[in-house]
Amino acid sequence: MKTSVRFTWNQLRIFEAVARLSSHTRAAAELHVVQPTISAQIKQLSTAVGMPLFEQIGKKIFLTPAGNELQASCAELFDAWSRFEMKAADLKGVKTGTLRVTIVTTAKYFIPRLLGPFCRLYPGVDVALEVVNRDQAIERLAANRDDLYIMGVPPDTLPTERHPFLENPLVVIAPHDHPLAGCRRIELRRLAEEAFIAREPGSGTRIAAEKFLASHRIKPRNRMQLGNNEAVKWTVAAGLGVAVISRHALMLEPMHDRLAILDVQGFPIRRSWYVVYPAGKRLSVVAQTFFDYLKREAFTIQEELAAPPLRRAQKKPR
Ligand code: PGA
Repeated sequence: MKTSVRFTWNQLRIFEAVARLSSHTRAAAELHVVQPTISAQIKQLSTAVGMPLFEQIGKKIFLTPAGNELQASCAELFDAWSRFEMKAADLKGVKTGTLRVTIVTTAKYFIPRLLGPFCRLYPGVDVALEVVNRDQAIERLAANRDDLYIMGVPPDTLPTERHPFLENPLVVIAPHDHPLAGCRRIELRRLAEEAFIAREPGSGTRIAAEKFLASHRIKPRNRMQLGNNEAVKWTVAAGLGVAVISRHALMLEPMHDRLAILDVQGFPIRRSWYVVYPAGKRLSVVAQTFFDYLKREAFTIQEELAAPPLRRAQKKPR
């Protein structure tokens, strides 16, 4: 294939960094080159393309329409190149490269325990793991920043591939001395009388809990909303309310004496964890290897879920 535009790989790397960081200075620092080199290479690339790639408004630089197109093409080119590098390594029988995974906060209770043995199996693989809330995970997914995403509620707003690989049950927790602790088959509508400690809007746990309760015409009375499971558990243990939480967040639980799982009708809410990636994305060799590993090894975590995570409260008559 002949291309009429003459450019070098180095110019594309420089352009990609400037476009991503919106700054010549930051791109120079990231690439360990001086700023005049950045400006000269961007100028040459614009001349080769025949159109300006950036425009300056005040002190800020913005991509022009041609710059936007080039940024999208760079992402595809770099993706294809890293796939080739990994394929080449694979042909040599070595799995090397970087695995970029973004997980939502609740997945931090089990993904590191799967990553540990994976990394021991493939010592040539470096892992870049981001733990963020669901809204941020979706932003990263939309921008194709990582290889794989782990979440409980994949977005409906983006075309994605999604594969369930592990159960993600949600239970109701209360302080261990709550009047309902130890009661059998508590009626769901009884929850309407309780104050709830909710996760932040956008959290998969919150979306699934509210959807389930709404389908039974129950609107939870939220006393407080908190951005992570640890804060939720401590607040429940302090007697400020009850909460719906993933069973995974109760594994390795140091608060066994302070929390009880309530036996509420309809609970646990049965759901799954999904591996998600943009529709049409071609996974790198390393990403595909980890994906296959997850599907194969998730049963070890599944077995832990079968064990009761908290000591059972004393049975009480209803
Ligand atoms: P999250 O958990 O509440 O941390 O987003 C994900 C989920 O269980 O869906």
